Formats: sequence, structure tokens, C-alpha cells
Amino acid sequence: MTDMEARHSVPDRTQGGEAAIIVEHLTKRFGDRVAFNDVSFEVGAGEVFGFLGPNGAGKTTTVRTLVTLIAPSTGTATVAGIPLLPENGSAIRSRISLMPESPGLYLRLTVTENLQCFAGLYGLDDVPGRIGRALRAVNLEDRARDLCGSLSKGLRQRVALARALLNDPAVLFLDEPTSGLDPVAIREVHDLIESLRKRGVTIFLTTHRLEEAERLCDRVAILNTTLRMIGRPDELRARLFRRSLDVRLRAPLGDPRTLFGAVSDVEQWEQTSSGYVLTVANPDRAAPVLARALVGAGADILSLGESHHSLEDVYLELIDEDVEAKSR
Ligand SMILES: Nc1ncnc2c1ncn2[C@@H]1O[C@H](COP(=O)(O)OP(=O)(O)OP(=O)(O)O)[C@@H](O)[C@H]1O
Ligand SMILES: [Mg+2]
Repeated sequence: MTDMEARHSVPDRTQGGEAAIIVEHLTKRFGDRVAFNDVSFEVGAGEVFGFLGPNGAGKTTTVRTLVTLIAPSTGTATVAGIPLLPENGSAIRSRISLMPESPGLYLRLTVTENLQCFAGLYGLDDVPGRIGRALRAVNLEDRARDLCGSLSKGLRQRVALARALLNDPAVLFLDEPTSGLDPVAIREVHDLIESLRKRGVTIFLTTHRLEEAERLCDRVAILNTTLRMIGRPDELRARLFRRSLDVRLRAPLGDPRTLFGAVSDVEQWEQTSSGYVLTVANPDRAAPVLARALVGAGADILSLGESHHSLEDVYLELIDEDVEAKSR
């Protein structure tokens, strides 16, 4: 059976809001070394899912496992609606694609020749039509006859993305797709990811770039051998950090302890170089009460608003600390 036949013979269970990827208690060991341990998560169909973690966290090994390049040690998974089992390898591969960290192109072949070569390896039909659509998707039609060796790193990355699109994947795995690219090339890859999302492709994106995850991803998982946390970027921030208000005044308060003590919502406060940071249960309720108290005490308010932590703060907190202990 060819990959295309396998593709048509499997019912599409990723439609209708079902999960595109289900991972349950998955572990991969290389001898004594544990690459990732007891990892469980789900990715919804059409979701852009960010997979973050420091070097050696097990991100690439997780991707390699899910794209059927290596077998898990224990645990189960479903990828594009198909159980991750040795006998389903070709059926899974026909519905997914991987863009690995290095583009892996033949530099002495042209863009089109590279794509023809890979389309042949994948056993795809309608090769010219697929190559045309893939090149259009990454806006590379004008460079189709250029040797890959003559292209910039950013353009090679786009050829690699075109290659990953040849089989019209339901689930696309992107392993560090923007590493080493300049800001313009990064923006182009981001725009491509956005356009794939609009077409309903599920995207599994490993990245070190936190602002990339924050900008593109519906949900983010943070891995450091074990899965540390998973959720929407704003949920992760809210779960990890207490909410707080930043207050900047023209001059320090004479008696901050008494003033803040009189505002019932304020749980803790500390003085910073530019003002005060107040930990509060409910910033929307506390801010107006606090503003009145400050004005009543004769303070000149320069600014008063909720502090916003970036995903980078969340990430560093999770990587630096024992999160399981912290969340208790
Ligand atoms: N084939 C292999 N044999 C032995 N150990 C391996 C193999 N592949 C990966 N590892 C180990 O598994 C761990 C996870 O590696 P992995 O490449 O998945 O990390 P990563 O999160 O992708 O890191 P990076 O951010 O650097 O890409 C590392 O300790 C690595 O040395
Ligand atoms: Mg990696």
C-alpha cells in the first residue's frame, strides 16, 4: 500500500474539534538517559501548540517520537487521529510533516528539483501541482530554478517549509523554525504559520523564542524532561504569578505602611526604585480604592496599573525552580 492509499483508508478523526495529538504517559530513554519522562498532553485540531524548554529538555526527541522516527520507550500516543504504533507508521507519516531544525536540502539541486526529489520519496501523486501550491504558499515561485546552495538561510528555511507542505499535512511539526534567522525572515516564517493556521493545519512548534510562542501559540507547554506546565500563555502567567499593581509617584510616601494597610485588597507591598509594587487579590477593585487613598494622602500619581509579566518570566520561573514544590 502506498502512503496515499493509506491516507485515504484511515477515517479522518481530527475533524469536528477532536484532538489532533493525544500523548499519554509517554517516556523515551536512551539507555540510562531519560530524554523525556511521563509526558501527557493533547493538541486540538487546528491549534498552534508551542513546545518550550531549555536545551536538552527533550523537545526534539518528543517530536521525533511523534513523527514516527523513533519509538517511545513506554506510553501511548495518537497522531492525526491514528494510534502511534509501528504498523501505523506510514499512515501517520502521510498525514503529518516535519520541518526539522536543519533544512536538509540538496544544495546542488534547484528548489524545484529538491521538491521533486522529496515528493518522489514520499510517493506523492500530482507532483507538479503540489510543488506549485507549496511554492505559492511560501512565496518562492520566483526562486524555483535557483540552486538551493545559492539561497540565504531564510530562503532555505522557506524551501524546507515548502517541502513540509508537499503532502498537504493535517499536522505540521516545526522544530525551531526561526533559529538563526534575521528579524525579517522570522517575520516571514511567522506570517506563513499564521496563514497555515487559517487553513486549519494543526501546528506543533518547538521554540526557544518566547515572544514567538506568545505571539503565535494558542497554548504552550513547558518541558524540562517532564512537562512542567501547559496552558494559554496568559493562563500560565496568571497561574504562576500573583497579580499586582505598579504605582509610580512623583515623591515617595511619608508613611506607606499606614496608607497601604488601609486598602483592604493590598496583601503585600514593596518599594522599588521607581515606586511601589502591591500584591492584590483583585487589581480592578483595588486600583480605584488605592488611587483615592493616594490622592487623599496628597501623593502625585504618575502612573498606576496592573503589572504584566512576560512569558519569559513564566519560563524562567519554571526552569529555575521546582514547580511541583512551588504549586503546593
Ligand atoms: N539518539 C540519542 N541517543 C542518546 N541520547 C539522546 C539521543 N537523542 C537525544 N538524546 C538526549 O536526550 C536529551 C534530550 O535531547 P533533545 O534533543 O530532545 O533536547 P531538545 O529539548 O530538543 O534540546 P535543544 O533545545 O538543544 O534542541 C538530551 O540529553 C540528549 O542528549
Ligand atoms: Mg531540539
